[in-house]
Amino acid sequence: MFTTCSQYTEITLTDKERLNIAEGLSDIKYDPNGNDNYICDVRISAYRFFPERVLKIFEKEKASCNPSPCIVINNLPIDDKISGSPSFEETGLSYKSGTLSENTIIAVSLLLGEPYSVKFEGLELVNNIVPHKNHLDKYTGLGSKAELDLHIENSALKFIFDDDCSPSGVLLLGLRQDPNASVNTYFSDACLALKLLDSETLKILKSPLFNVKLPYRWREIMKRTMTAKVPLISGPDHSPRIHAAFYPDMVHIDDKEARAAFDKFYYALKKVSVGIDIKPGQLVYVNNRFSLHARGSFDPTYDENGLGYRWLQRTFITQDLWAMRDFRLTGRIYDPGLTMIKSIVDLEEPLTVS
Ligand SMILES: [Fe+2]
Repeated sequence: MFTTCSQYTEITLTDKERLNIAEGLSDIKYDPNGNDNYICDVRISAYRFFPERVLKIFEKEKASCNPSPCIVINNLPIDDKISGSPSFEETGLSYKSGTLSENTIIAVSLLLGEPYSVKFEGLELVNNIVPHKNHLDKYTGLGSKAELDLHIENSALKFIFDDDCSPSGVLLLGLRQDPNASVNTYFSDACLALKLLDSETLKILKSPLFNVKLPYRWREIMKRTMTAKVPLISGPDHSPRIHAAFYPDMVHIDDKEARAAFDKFYYALKKVSVGIDIKPGQLVYVNNRFSLHARGSFDPTYDENGLGYRWLQRTFITQDLWAMRDFRLTGRIYDPGLTMIKSIVDLEEPLTVS
């Protein structure tokens, strides 16, 4: 159940608008690698078939000094027939009548930034997020038992490389809902949370007292665990950037006051967080600069093939693909394992901490 919040932008397409977008995107052949011709075809159709009122909201968003923490778009086109859900190694096409949903999420991604994928986060440009029996306790999109608590997606990557390789946004599109469990995705606007904190706590959070850790999947590949000491908040007070993750073992803190400030920040973020059980055809865009997201724990329902019923699709977007130039695998798929050693910033801190 989505709690309406005035800071969030919500767009509901009419059925006529949905059908118009579907018509514009249906015939484009999805390219799971996101090569240039495919991206060009989707971009042209996105600008041609999305309603002008929506395009204007997106343009305003991209140029704004105070963008929305989250945009929810209702009634987007997805494939008519969905008969299952893919495992991590499979493509979604095996379980749907086409690839309209992939084209839809890429179209919105291209209107807001530049979509890309990282090889070990999902094999295609569009990632499939389905709960998996072998990943129940994992802190990833495939997990379900473990609550994936509030986090900025890959915030450590702001500090690890020469350039900022942290995504500017995360998009989630609903394909199937769990029939028995309500599964909330949460969003928390840090601008609201910071208003609940006293000046001393803010000062500590802006000080370089925190080692932000890489997500678990990244640690082995990168042969390092965390950043040097960095602040959790940077930028101007009215429009800050956040560098934090609050699920277990994501920030190393050895200062007592810093730990207390970290906890206060967490509780303030929880207080202003909003939950949504993403429905089929509903897309949620989270601004990853200052809006944290989370997934509650749940007991998944599995279909006859033993695969999770709940199915979301996900993309990451950036404003600067060039930042990841050192580890492009193919098209818009990146593999930091390729050449990451060359571009890692030489930091004083130890590479790993247990
Ligand atoms: Fe995430």
